[in-house]
Amino acid sequence: MEPLFKGRHFITLEEWTKEEIDTLLQVSKELKRKFLNNEPTPYLTNKTAFLMFFEQSTRTRNSMEAGLAHLGGHATFLDTSMMQISHGESAKDTAVILSSYGHGIACRNCFWEVGNKYLREMAANSTVPIMNLQCDLYHPMQGLADLMTIQEVSPSTKNLKVSIIWAYAKSHKKPISVPLTQILLFPRYGMDVTLAYPKGYDLPIWAIEKAKKNALEHGGSFRITHDMEDAFRNADIVIPKNWGSWVNNQSTAVIDDLLESYKGWKCTEDMIKLASPNVYYMHALPADRGNEVEDSVIDGPHSIVYQEAENRLHTAKAVMAMTMGNK
Ligand code: CP
Repeated sequence: MEPLFKGRHFITLEEWTKEEIDTLLQVSKELKRKFLNNEPTPYLTNKTAFLMFFEQSTRTRNSMEAGLAHLGGHATFLDTSMMQISHGESAKDTAVILSSYGHGIACRNCFWEVGNKYLREMAANSTVPIMNLQCDLYHPMQGLADLMTIQEVSPSTKNLKVSIIWAYAKSHKKPISVPLTQILLFPRYGMDVTLAYPKGYDLPIWAIEKAKKNALEHGGSFRITHDMEDAFRNADIVIPKNWGSWVNNQSTAVIDDLLESYKGWKCTEDMIKLASPNVYYMHALPADRGNEVEDSVIDGPHSIVYQEAENRLHTAKAVMAMTMGNK
């Protein structure tokens, strides 16, 4: 049976089969080719989407806004602090109204134990697709772009050694949604995934169990280490990135004694030397330069962060082209 894409919500890649994700990636690749060749892609002519942001964004907002314009449609950026949401209007009422005005609603809400529930509430009441632009648990747009980038540099992902490594940062208390999405997604593509973090920065137990299950089902592997050097050693891809201690500590304070005790968790040239000679360095961005990573690494020959960021455009367009336009 043909998979159904039109009208589908895009909240977590866990709700999309591997075959469906492969189709999204094929479409992303084709859209990238057409974009680079300046070929028109009028797949959502006269369609509209509303982009609701509870938090700041550079890549996500602009890949969606530019992307929908490339597809012939129009995206409306909505700062939720300027919406009636700030006076208490419900997710349900917001979703019912906005879905009657257009063809898609996308939302970023990363508040801990709120964001995903908010998206689910909108999805339950929307007549158009709800697209997750990052919540407290998942960042599927980032996950899809990461996977596309990995496949571009390493077409065979079977037993590729990928290390997702916590790194020190103090810019803001970041969601866990990027590493959580990656540990669930990458084992489905046969990768050997290592998750490394210092004590106190756990991801939820249910996500760890699901990552192990995904690895078992798809021939990948998944392990946890609290030794940073162990994670870098012989890795084919390293993804050192900060995330907040949300599972262990729900305080919104950015800097505390625990965080400050792990300043040594930084991606340095010495760490890169431990990895495979052809290792790729990835980061969803924004990076906390000087804290998470040395400039010489992120600007160096192993870094593919700009390719990864560019692929946010092509994958966002694929998600919109495939799910929107049902009415
Ligand atoms: N990676 C990412 O989601 O970037 P923005 O926060 O700039 O959207």
